[in-house]
Amino acid sequence: MKKIILSGSTATGDLTIGNYIGAINNWKSLQEEFDCLYFVADLHALTVKQDPEQLRKRCLSFFAQYLALGLDPDKNTLFLQSHVPEHTELSWVLTCLTPMGNLNRMTQFKDKSQQHSKNINAGLFTYPVLMAADILLYQADLIPVGEDQKQHLELCRDIVVYFENHYGEGVFKMPEPYIGEQGARIMSLQDASKKMSKSDENEKNFVSIIDPPKKIQKKIKSAVTDSGEVISYDPENKAGLSNLLTIYSVLSKRTVNQIVNDYEGKMYGHLKVDLAELVCETLKPVQEKYEDLMKNEDHLQALMKKGANKARERASATLKNVYDRIGLLPR
Ligand code: TYM
Repeated sequence: MKKIILSGSTATGDLTIGNYIGAINNWKSLQEEFDCLYFVADLHALTVKQDPEQLRKRCLSFFAQYLALGLDPDKNTLFLQSHVPEHTELSWVLTCLTPMGNLNRMTQFKDKSQQHSKNINAGLFTYPVLMAADILLYQADLIPVGEDQKQHLELCRDIVVYFENHYGEGVFKMPEPYIGEQGARIMSLQDASKKMSKSDENEKNFVSIIDPPKKIQKKIKSAVTDSGEVISYDPENKAGLSNLLTIYSVLSKRTVNQIVNDYEGKMYGHLKVDLAELVCETLKPVQEKYEDLMKNEDHLQALMKKGANKARERASATLKNVYDRIGLLPR
């Protein structure tokens, strides 16, 4: 039996090369070896105010980008979170088991409530519980997430313990993090002390998967680096430059040392021009495939439906077990 992998991305902003390098690129390589489920977390997106029309478009676009980035709908289960109602059902059960104190400790909640100080809704607070439901419904063994999501995964593991203490074992599998070795965290282009975020208000901070080449070149050229002249990898003192080297290394599949050697005696500007070209070249086939996919909405919808049906089969089996164990009558 193959191990089960599950991961997702929240449908806010635009998928970035941070999501690609830190997540989707790994998801793609895992699809050969594991039984993988990948979804678009559209319900999680509701924790920030959404324009309905834009949200609809974005969910379609994210799903198409998953496919364009190489996730195979035959090898994986690809779906939208809201198409599997068991997510919200299990989420409620888990919410009733999760102490407020645990949720209060979540750094993402603290960050996001500062960012969205006019809309600190209860969903923002219980966000990680829905994430735990996403994971536990599918008996997932491994969860590929970047550093930023590790705390949420820890909470999910705590919730399993709370459930088992009260209701006994055998209903959920204990999930483990799976963190890809390289490029686990890509930083913002303008401020390398924070992560590249797809919902950043300043779009100069990120390169999105579907940015046109001119925009990509401009953004990488204007990436903030230090005032030094020697190209070297030094995340502490040359954070901006080191971030560019990391991106370069992952996309070119060469080590940072090899790249540093190649650029001996060259200026930062040279590296930026070459990196911009590499990013554009990497994304070109993805963008072409994406454009094609977006022309056929019916096809996308059919794939979503197929994925959701596959997902529901498993999710409903887990939920049935949970309801039975906690004492709800069968329906
Ligand atoms: P999200 O949408 O913020 O990010 C999706 C994935 O991309 C990774 N990531 C990054 N990796 C490297 N550098 C970056 N700058 C960067 N930014 C994002 C994230 O770590 C993540 O792996 N809550 C989740 C979505 C989710 C989920 C789940 C994930 C909902 N339910 C269940 C796993 C399992 C989120 O908002 O990811």
